[in-house]
This record gives sequence, C-alpha cells and structure tokens, in this order.
Amino acid sequence: MMGRRLTFSSLGFVLFIFLTFILVPKARGWSKEGHIMTCRIAQNLLEPEAAEAVENLLPHNLKGDLSALCIWPDQIRHWYKYRWTSPLHFIDTPDNACTFDYSRDCHDQHGLKNMCVAGAISNFTSQLLHYREGTADRRYNLTEALLFLSHFMGDVHQPMHVGFTSDEGGNTIELRWFRHKSNLHHVWDREIILTTLADYYEKDVDLLQKDIEGNFTDGIWFDDLASWKECDDLLSCANKYAVESINMACKWGYKGVESGETLSDEYFDSRMPIIMKRIAQGGVRLAMYLNQIFGNPKEGFSSPT
Ligand SMILES: *[C@@H]1O[C@H](CO)[C@@H](O)[C@H](O)[C@H]1NC(C)=O
Ligand SMILES: *[C@@H]1O[C@H](CO)[C@@H](O)[C@H](O)[C@H]1NC(C)=O
Ligand SMILES: *[C@@H]1O[C@H](CO)[C@@H](O)[C@H](O)[C@H]1NC(C)=O
Ligand SMILES: [Zn+2]
Repeated sequence: MMGRRLTFSSLGFVLFIFLTFILVPKARGWSKEGHIMTCRIAQNLLEPEAAEAVENLLPHNLKGDLSALCIWPDQIRHWYKYRWTSPLHFIDTPDNACTFDYSRDCHDQHGLKNMCVAGAISNFTSQLLHYREGTADRRYNLTEALLFLSHFMGDVHQPMHVGFTSDEGGNTIELRWFRHKSNLHHVWDREIILTTLADYYEKDVDLLQKDIEGNFTDGIWFDDLASWKECDDLLSCANKYAVESINMACKWGYKGVESGETLSDEYFDSRMPIIMKRIAQGGVRLAMYLNQIFGNPKEGFSSPT
C-alpha cells in the first residue's frame, strides 16, 4: 500500500511539473517579479490602519509580507476549487477595436457577466469594505479577497491583459525574444522585466523596485502621482485602468508586431519605460485602494489629490 501511494504521489508530482511547463507559457499575468514589485511598492505606501488590517488578514507566519502571497491567485487558478477565478485575470476585447466597454467585454467565455479583471477588482473591494464590521458573521474569506485584489490590481495594469479576443491577449502570437522562442503576451508579462533586470539591475529585483519607487517619490513620475491616485468610486476606477491598458496594448504592444518575427533592442528600449510605469501605477493604486478600504472612514472616501 505504502509503495503504491508513493508511486501515485510521485506520478502526481511529475504530472504537476509537466502541467506547469505546458501551462506557464500560456499563462496570463504579470510574472512573479511584476506582482512582487507591485505589492511591495503598495505595502511601502500603506498608512497605519491599512498596514494593520493587511497584517491581520495575512497568515501570521508571513509577518505581514503581502508580496509573499501576491502570486497565490496564479498558483491556484487551475485547481478545481478555484477554477471560477480563471477568467478574472484578464479582459478580452473585440479584435482591433482598441476600446474597453464594461457591459460589452466584462464576461467569461460563456457570457457570465462581471467575470473579468475589472469586475473582480470591484467584487473583492466590496467584500473588503466589510472588514470594519468585525469578524462575526462574515460571508466571505477576506484573506482571499485581499490576495485577489492585490493580484488583480497588478494584472489590470499589464497592457496585454486587456487585449484582443482571437489572439488571447497576444498569447497566440508566437515570436522570438532576442534568441529564444516566446509569444507577445509573455514578452509583456515577463521577458521585458527579465531583460531589464539582467541589463541594468544585476538581476536584483530589490534594486529595480527601489529605482521605480525613486521615480515617483522624486523623479520622472513625481508630477503624475496625484493623477494616478485620483478615484471617486473604488468600485469603478478599475475600468479606467483597463481602458489605459487596451490603449497601450494597441499603441505599444501590438503595434508593428507580426507573428514569427524577432523582437529585440528597438522593441525593448521603447517598451521598457511603459512597463516600469505600469508596475509603479499598479503599486500606487493598490495602496490607494487599501488605504481607502481600511482607512479612517471620517476622512471621507475619495482620495485627496
Ligand atoms: C466574487 O467573489 C465571490 C467569492 O468570494 C465569487 O463567488 C464570485 O464569482 C466573484 N465574482 C467576481 C466577478 O469576481
Ligand atoms: C481563508 O482562505 C485561506 C486561503 O485559502 C485559508 O488558508 C483560510 O483557512 C481561510 N479562512 C477561513 C476562515 O476559511
Ligand atoms: C527612472 O528614471 C531614470 C531617469 O529618467 C531612468 O533612467 C530610469 O530608467 C528610470 N527607472 C525605471 C525603473 O523606470
Ligand atoms: Zn494573474
């Protein structure tokens, strides 16, 4: 019996590795580096109330480190129990329209409404708004709601997550990134970030994150910071971020790219600054959301700008 069980579990492990390899290139989501930076940037901007709520909601062994679980929604999206979350990482918009319309586009492939990244941000935000009511009689698991909100705020800022339907946000546009095979979606999820790290930051994610933070605390994005944080209604601001993404996907992602070609220096140099800005915006806006959700209600709901 023992032997058999071992065989089954190692078979399961092999299958897991196998599936991981098959599924990863088709995955949709900032790479783990993108999500980790988004969440660390956000956590550094939390006010005391929000920082405390986040620490209370996270499993205690993490010592309040949100970024450790920001990629959790990518890890569980293929589990049976969480299969419903799979369409929540992206939005498919009509080919070449370069627009996002919530009522037209925010649904899963069966047409179920609100099942897209903008709907999910709104959903988990409204769940978290019940945090202040206390622990009794909670309908939702607010730990999960926090992890989903933090992850999807990253995803909605990845321009190719709001892409065209027939190419699955660039996933089916196969091409080369310098010398190796990739696809257009993955170039935006991860390749550009990895090349940035290798070329300019000694492969050190912390160094890159500090440089991004420096550029909005006192640098090229300082003047834009207030406008990034503008949001009158937490339940609909993600629509704005999705519109920004599809506009960038058209202007910078798809523009001039044909499947089978090789993307290299020219594409990298012009797109890197856009991706860095999107990571910064995702982090700043996640902090703005968490500060408003958990902050002192007397200070009002819209962020001072
Ligand atoms: C909202 O979250 C609940 C679970 O907490 C889930 O059942 C529902 O499908 C979610 N809807 C969206 C649009 O995310
Ligand atoms: C909430 O979800 C987390 C992650 O799935 C789980 O570890 C935890 O036990 C859940 N909490 C409750 C109260 O169900
Ligand atoms: C920060 O700004 C400097 C100065 O413009 C620029 O060279 C650098 O690439 C920026 N860093 C990031 C990560 O955007
Ligand atoms: Zn994702």
